[in-house]
Amino acid sequence: MQETTFVMLKPDCVQRGLIGKVISRFESKGLRISAMKLLEVDEKTASTHYEEHQGKDFYQPLLKYITSGPVVVMALTGDSSIQMVRKIVGKTDPKKAEPGTIRGDLAIEVSRNIVHASDSSESAERELGIFFKEDDYSDYNRVEEGWIYP
Ligand code: RTP
Ligand code: MG
Repeated sequence: MQETTFVMLKPDCVQRGLIGKVISRFESKGLRISAMKLLEVDEKTASTHYEEHQGKDFYQPLLKYITSGPVVVMALTGDSSIQMVRKIVGKTDPKKAEPGTIRGDLAIEVSRNIVHASDSSESAERELGIFFKEDDYSDYNRVEEGWIYP
């Protein structure tokens, strides 16, 4: 089933120059980027995005981390994209993430784990709504989805 998921390349990804490398993994898997932008997350948006973690001991450091520099946000569309992207991203703690996953290959610390991805269709819908409005999306097909060069 075609789905759209929300992905954020966190400040450590941007600052380590890994934007291209990370996006490339999603692109080569066959996912379509249907919206994308670089922005700085303010405190209010960060607390809305991570509201499920309010009160946990890592919550304040998490907000500080996510607001510490620019991030890249994107909407990725494809068959079963929500769970597939979570698999490509790997376990939350990069020390436990399998090699071959983004976190398993590119990070060490749980508090600097490169990328966020929605964990369910409900969170995808909610998170996409925080960062994108209707006209941020482009509707097109990739070549393997039937796009033909004009
Ligand atoms: P994310 O939401 O960023 O995609 O990560 P996730 O689903 O894999 O993990 P989640 O439980 O939602 O945690 C959100 C983010 O909080 C930081 N964290 N730190 N110090 C800790 O034990 C700890 N636990 C979580 C991580 O940056 C994690 O991605
Ligand atoms: Mg999460």
